[in-house]
Amino acid sequence: MNEYFINKASNIMAWNLTTDILSNSKAIDYHKTLSVYQPTPIVSLPNLALKYNVGNIYVKDESYRFGLNAFKGLGASYAVHKILEKQPDIETICTATDGNHGRAVAWASKLAGKKAVVFVPKDTVESRIKAIENEGALVINTGLNYDETCAVAKNTSIEKGWQLVQDTAWENYEEIPALIKAGYLTHFEELENDLHVLPKHKVDVVFLQAGVGSWAAAAIWYYVNRYGNNRPKIVVVEPYESDGILASFKAGKRVTPEGTFKTIMAGLNCGIPSLTSWDIIKNGTDVAIKIEDEFAEQAIRQLYYPEGNDKRIIAGESGVGGLAGFIALMCKESMQPLKTYLGITANTNLLFYSTEGATDLENFNKIVSLKP
Ligand SMILES: Cc1ncc(COP(=O)(O)O)c(C=O)c1O
Repeated sequence: MNEYFINKASNIMAWNLTTDILSNSKAIDYHKTLSVYQPTPIVSLPNLALKYNVGNIYVKDESYRFGLNAFKGLGASYAVHKILEKQPDIETICTATDGNHGRAVAWASKLAGKKAVVFVPKDTVESRIKAIENEGALVINTGLNYDETCAVAKNTSIEKGWQLVQDTAWENYEEIPALIKAGYLTHFEELENDLHVLPKHKVDVVFLQAGVGSWAAAAIWYYVNRYGNNRPKIVVVEPYESDGILASFKAGKRVTPEGTFKTIMAGLNCGIPSLTSWDIIKNGTDVAIKIEDEFAEQAIRQLYYPEGNDKRIIAGESGVGGLAGFIALMCKESMQPLKTYLGITANTNLLFYSTEGATDLENFNKIVSLKP
């Protein structure tokens, strides 16, 4: 079927600059030095698990991260910290973003006393632009798509002597994206302290939403290193119309997807996967799927109007990507073979990361105004 790909993962991670930086990451020690640092909560949703007849469902809620309403501050802050250790005289930091990464870079630059310039693609909603400006950054709308906006940020940085802090890698631009991935490791390491809430300390399947794939790659690297061949099954989820990872699996190499790039999952609306992230993802993913926006809306409502006395979670369109993928997998006839392949039964424990809160409040309110 063309909406999913089953991958025979080798679970072998090549040794290179990226995996070296991941292995030597001290991100959690750095993050603990920040006064705003707190591990984000993990929420158990037993009634939702009953609804889908699975063992249990856990959600790590990143809307609480650093007061930024998304997980991205983990990567940006660690990368900016490591760059400034080597080059303290940098004056201006620059990036391209579809929202959360830009706000995170603006915040991390402010923390370090540096200026930030953030380029955003066309269609970036006003509330996300405001959130970046509120962290003190200059925001420039390029009127272009995500990949083109990344190119503008790269070229302008070279021209003006600014430091580019981009969360996607390409040839000869690998170190900073690796530091960003290393920063993301903090929230996987936080989970070590939460294992006691999981029955038999075990998660069976993890669903990871992906844009350029840097976050999914950090997660996969963590799971493969921590659990080896006994790692949880890993499902990568993308929007139907921007499925760079699924398209790359199908092509057998990293490619730009051919969809329309129309999706409400703005953070996942990216083009070609990150070079170094793809290297990790292709060796540690079991299944890649793409899903329609309606599943993201369903997942937002599901968390907002919880089953029984489950706790309410406020999650944004990209933040619910993993859960939306699970709902699609359980509901769509065409995805039933995946349920069997992943071995999802009444005993299976599932983990999701809600990677953002309601970062586009207007659209969030529209979505939750329709009660399930
Ligand atoms: C909320 C949210 N979740 C997940 C992602 C995916 O991260 P990546 O682009 O590294 O795949 C993003 C990216 O912006 C995001 O904003």
